[in-house]
Amino acid sequence: MTTTSNDHVRIFDTTLRDGEQSPGASMTLDEKLQIAEILDEMGVDIIEAGFPIASNGDFEAVCEIAKNTKNSVVAGLARAIHADIDRCGEAVKYAEKGRIHTFVSTSPIHLQHQMNKTQDEVLDIITDTVTRSRNLIDDVEWSAMDATRTSVEYLCRCVEAAIRAGATTINLPDTVGYATPDEYKSMFEAIIEQVPDSDKATFSVHCHDDLGMAVANSLAGVAGGARQVECTINGLGERAGNAALEEIVMAIRTRGDVLPYTSSVDPKFMTRASKLVAGASGFAVQYNKAIVGKNAFAHESGIHQDGMLKNAETYEIMRPEDVGVKATSLVMGKHSGRHAFKDKLRDLGYELGDNALQEAFRRFKDLADRKKHVYDEDIEALVEDEIATAGEPIKVIALTVIAGTGGPQKAILTMDVNGRHETREATGDGPVDATFNAIKSIVPHEATLSLYQVHAVTEGTDAQAEVSVRLEAGGRISTGKGADTDTLVASARAYVAAMNRLNLRMQGANPGALQAV
Ligand code: KIV
Ligand code: ZN
Repeated sequence: MTTTSNDHVRIFDTTLRDGEQSPGASMTLDEKLQIAEILDEMGVDIIEAGFPIASNGDFEAVCEIAKNTKNSVVAGLARAIHADIDRCGEAVKYAEKGRIHTFVSTSPIHLQHQMNKTQDEVLDIITDTVTRSRNLIDDVEWSAMDATRTSVEYLCRCVEAAIRAGATTINLPDTVGYATPDEYKSMFEAIIEQVPDSDKATFSVHCHDDLGMAVANSLAGVAGGARQVECTINGLGERAGNAALEEIVMAIRTRGDVLPYTSSVDPKFMTRASKLVAGASGFAVQYNKAIVGKNAFAHESGIHQDGMLKNAETYEIMRPEDVGVKATSLVMGKHSGRHAFKDKLRDLGYELGDNALQEAFRRFKDLADRKKHVYDEDIEALVEDEIATAGEPIKVIALTVIAGTGGPQKAILTMDVNGRHETREATGDGPVDATFNAIKSIVPHEATLSLYQVHAVTEGTDAQAEVSVRLEAGGRISTGKGADTDTLVASARAYVAAMNRLNLRMQGANPGALQAV
């Protein structure tokens, strides 16, 4: 089957907006800039950079991404409110190609319980807010929130109003992840057929994964005539998440026989993008996740391994290198020099400044002393940890833990708090509890621990542990990660990383909620 330009599907990435809305996934400005850079480089057509009215931080992130993005359109989200639209227009005006994405609910349940508006009132709101957006910028996307629980008849009237007011993209989201592929496809077919001037806009899918059908629904929407897919790296997003970008792009590439579409995304960037987003959001990727999971290209059983050795196509429908997976390689040992280390980092996609490079190299040497084999994954974990902690006000300096059957377990911890070294001892119900109690005794705070997770970075008993910690205080959530061959050191680093982020986020909301003594 041949493809024409009409078969081109635009990829709209909303990792930095819908993805960041997942509780605990918020990211720093630096992290957002790094993610936007890789999305731009990988060929994503539209980057939804944030929700400018939501906070000054969000506004600043959209402005900075708009200024730095070279090829992609940069979109900001706005409710159907003048102040939202104006703020969004102010942020995206810095982009070479900017877009205002405005939305309003259309389903009876939202109109009655959330908005307290009639259908006619919402139609007027659509005309008013799309017109206002078009007065600020030429590229305007309008979304019908909860479209899949709205009647096709009313949806047609809304879409017609939005197109008449100047919307250039019409997004019909499955906001609550309720639709099935057949229903979603039929909805697009009906609307595109019934709305006059439907050819004046590009139709878009936006699917949530509550029933695990987000990717299938998105592709069904494309079969129904949509030519933009809204998705996120790793499927990050509200509740069960959004359709995963890597799955959409690879489904199109791998099954061109039944999905005759094209996208501009270069999949070689996917593994790096996935790691970057997992690190920044603190949401680890499940091992068996399609395309970017650690086991996505691993073959364990004898039959599979035998087949793979004879011909990789026996059990592999995609080549790992196509999505940027490099064969696990033994890198360097303790005799490797700074130059080789820097080259290796460049190979793995990292460019560190002089100070960060120096510190990462010191930690690499330290790791090579303790660990027999140092793999790419070890270096990545170490560098991600370094990037996440560089310049933070609170740091772990030294930790000794006394553990074992005797109890109570005891931790002796030294931390650097705003340039001052503090040492305390604490006991606890187990070594992790003792370590966290020692942190609390140096930096008293009210935050509660809502997640503690440990992963081994590679195999073997000398593997580095990568720990994720999530803290909650004053309605805010933050996640931190730490890596070390010593699980307790990694735990302390992860806890402190989460604390530093929470502190940043609480400033302004409740200064002093997390105070250093
Ligand atoms: O899920 C949804 O409906 C959304 C809209 C704001 C597009 O995220
Ligand atoms: Zn959404």
